[in-house]
Amino acid sequence: MTKGKLISFEGIEGVGKSTSIGSVKKFLEKNQIEVYSTREPGGTKYGESLRNILLNNKSKISPEAELLLIFSIRNQHIEDVIIPKLNSGIWILCDRYIDASIAYQGYGKKVSLKKIDMLIKEFTNEIKPDLTIFFDLSYKKSLKRFPKYKKKDRFENLNNKFFDDVYNGYKKISNQNKSRVKIINASKSKEDVNNQIILELKKKFKNLS
Ligand code: TYD
Repeated sequence: MTKGKLISFEGIEGVGKSTSIGSVKKFLEKNQIEVYSTREPGGTKYGESLRNILLNNKSKISPEAELLLIFSIRNQHIEDVIIPKLNSGIWILCDRYIDASIAYQGYGKKVSLKKIDMLIKEFTNEIKPDLTIFFDLSYKKSLKRFPKYKKKDRFENLNNKFFDDVYNGYKKISNQNKSRVKIINASKSKEDVNNQIILELKKKFKNLS
């Protein structure tokens, strides 16, 4: 059995990742590929319960403690879900992965990038995405899409400067990893965004049609 592929989806809040992941799943399934969608932080029972703590407005967590918590969740996710599924040939669509830690905890919260790199090297079992889709939409534009009725979580309550830094961090990561990270113009219509993603998938994985 050939190994599955890991595709991660990145971007700031409200860029339309979740909707697109659903469409990518359908596209891959039409190509007779078995697909599993998951998310970070989360993806396991352990991770989902810690996610609630992490996103809860009442939690007081320092940037480094937050980073370690996210990597603890990630490590469990990799061991229990990502590795076994990849080994049985399943393709994984992951809503956020390692780049989110570099963008949010590194560029956003100013935890040293060296420390984050160390965690990536030592605690991810060398599982890197085969392809990363970066939804390129500035914070200003993403704000317009944020539903007024939705209560903001601990991250969404952070200020403009934080999200500008995260966004610029993602752009840097994308430019430094051009063969892995593909930039999608997320200001376009849902259909257009999906078409851009499918084009990138076809370019990367030549058997897809
Ligand atoms: P998200 O999936 O965007 O939550 P929702 O769409 O339900 O609001 O992600 C949860 C938050 O976790 C998001 O604000 C980004 C943050 N996060 C990090 O700060 N670092 C990480 O490594 C990951 C994976 C997520």
